[in-house]
Amino acid sequence: MHDQILEAVSAIKYRVGGSQPEIGIVLGSGLGLIIEQILDPVTIPYSEIPSFHGTSAEGNAGKMIFGKFHGVMCAFLVGRFHVYEGYPMSEVVFPVRTLCALGIKTLLLTNASGGINTRFRPGDLMLIEDHLNLMGDNPLKGPNLNELGPRFPDMTEAYSKDCRSVFEAAAVEIGIDLKRGVYAGVLGPTYETPAEIRMLRILGADAVGMSTVPEAIAANHLGVRVAGIACITNLASGLSARRLRHTEVVENVKLSARQLARLLEKAIPQLVYRKK
Ligand code: HPA
Repeated sequence: MHDQILEAVSAIKYRVGGSQPEIGIVLGSGLGLIIEQILDPVTIPYSEIPSFHGTSAEGNAGKMIFGKFHGVMCAFLVGRFHVYEGYPMSEVVFPVRTLCALGIKTLLLTNASGGINTRFRPGDLMLIEDHLNLMGDNPLKGPNLNELGPRFPDMTEAYSKDCRSVFEAAAVEIGIDLKRGVYAGVLGPTYETPAEIRMLRILGADAVGMSTVPEAIAANHLGVRVAGIACITNLASGLSARRLRHTEVVENVKLSARQLARLLEKAIPQLVYRKK
């Protein structure tokens, strides 16, 4: 695994030369607006990076984009792999591990989520304060990769406090009502039943989705600090009279894309890691 990561890193370095990304950003689907703001982008299709899967089961071609985002060298992952597609967790987190091996200091994870907290509305953004891993699996299962990190990683601050403060301050500055809460990561691909949503609320979840948790675990293992933002695309099952449809979820990501773009514009330059 470690050799595969190094192989992917050298293929990427060959394409981007010496540019060293500071921040890695995983964009959930429907957030294409954000990549329009990258200066001098270098795009590398996943199919051209060893050990990356070219295409997800949903048929979305994935790509890595390098470039300056509001003055900060960033590496974007556009298109991610989900556990529900049948990939082992180690493969789901491979792109994130590669970004970490490229030397990013901060990983920003974005996603589409259902709102469980009744104060949330479609179009809201939720800063992820913590997560519940309800996927029934863990990307660190199996022999520990000692080159990457410890056997039993601490998860006390899985989503960095410093990063959260940056996002909160940025939201105040630009006048966005940034929600906060706990993200429950579930396997999917079914949406939840209303009973499951009631259970998740009792467990302390504010939003639910089918991604993010494996990547957050892998980055914490590597000692890379993580920030997460959930785009609330729908009220979770049972909270409205409507049934859940994937097309509506995808469509609703666009409701928050502009706000997210403004938030990132403000926050990313402040997220550049400074040793204390
Ligand atoms: N449940 C799970 N995943 C999701 C949802 C949801 O309601 N909305 C977007 N992703």
